[in-house]
Amino acid sequence: MMTHVNNPGLPDKGQSGVTKQKRTMGKPAALFILGSLLAMAGQANAAGGPAPYRVSSDCMVCHGMTGHNTLYPIIPRLAGQHKGYLELQLKQFKDRSRADQNGEIYMWPVAQSLTAAEMKDLASYFAAQKPPMQSSGIKHAGIKEGKIIFNQGVAAAQIPACMECHGSDGQGAGAFPRLAGQRYGYIVQQLTYFHNGTRVNSLMNQIAKNITVAQMKDVAAYLSSL
Ligand code: HEC
Ligand code: HEC
Repeated sequence: MMTHVNNPGLPDKGQSGVTKQKRTMGKPAALFILGSLLAMAGQANAAGGPAPYRVSSDCMVCHGMTGHNTLYPIIPRLAGQHKGYLELQLKQFKDRSRADQNGEIYMWPVAQSLTAAEMKDLASYFAAQKPPMQSSGIKHAGIKEGKIIFNQGVAAAQIPACMECHGSDGQGAGAFPRLAGQRYGYIVQQLTYFHNGTRVNSLMNQIAKNITVAQMKDVAAYLSSL
């Protein structure tokens, strides 16, 4: 289970520049870096109050300071995701009920030390970031076909229309995640996890049971283009 095979080149927090610098520099340099991080936190602040300390210390290295962008396709965008959904996922990583492979490798270690209050603050902070997640402009094949699946489902395979729960524009609400503007690679990966049952959710496991890889890619092409 614990393999990095599917995740080439993900940053390892222990090897990140910030941590390394902190280790090798004296106190004034470390304080300078801390100061810079706090200043960045201040800049990211415009939309939703000051960034909780944990954002720069624990999340930034993978999700970016505002949860907008990252170089790695398996890391989800968090900016503008719903607060209730974000908080629920953090709880599920902490209690290990979200046990898909990338969650276990990358999010379990981070989530284990978060308190309930910190999870709430982090969820509020990322939910408030503007603009909300949106297309990077990269177009993948299958947008037209994916739009039909999203709006109508696939009757022959008993797949319901995704919009029934995720909203007519993929905007989501509450515990139903926003999908519009989420990353292509991440969406395909999560549908794979729901399909093979390693990410457990009674609704999505049923919905993804009959979905084909081609259909996953089409729907991801559509959603990531929004
Ligand atoms: C080492 C890289 C890494 C770090 C550090 C990290 N994350 Fe993640 N995060 C990921 C990856 C990879 C996933 C996708 C996991 C999966 O596929 O289940 C993820 C998923 C999530 C999700 C689920 C999003 C969704 O759409 O379901 C949330 C919420 C989240 N992270 C919040 C955070 C917060 C808050 C922090 C800081 C306290 C943080 N992450 C730190 C890599 C990281
Ligand atoms: C009956 C309601 C319902 C329908 C219909 C539905 N979903 Fe979902 N979906 C959910 C819920 C609830 C979650 C959150 C699961 C969790 O908390 O782990 C979710 C999560 C997801 C996620 C993970 C998002 C993330 O950020 O990790 C993806 C991707 C997704 N759904 C895609 C789809 C697609 C594609 C369809 C149509 C083929 C679809 N869903 C239809 C309820 C639904």
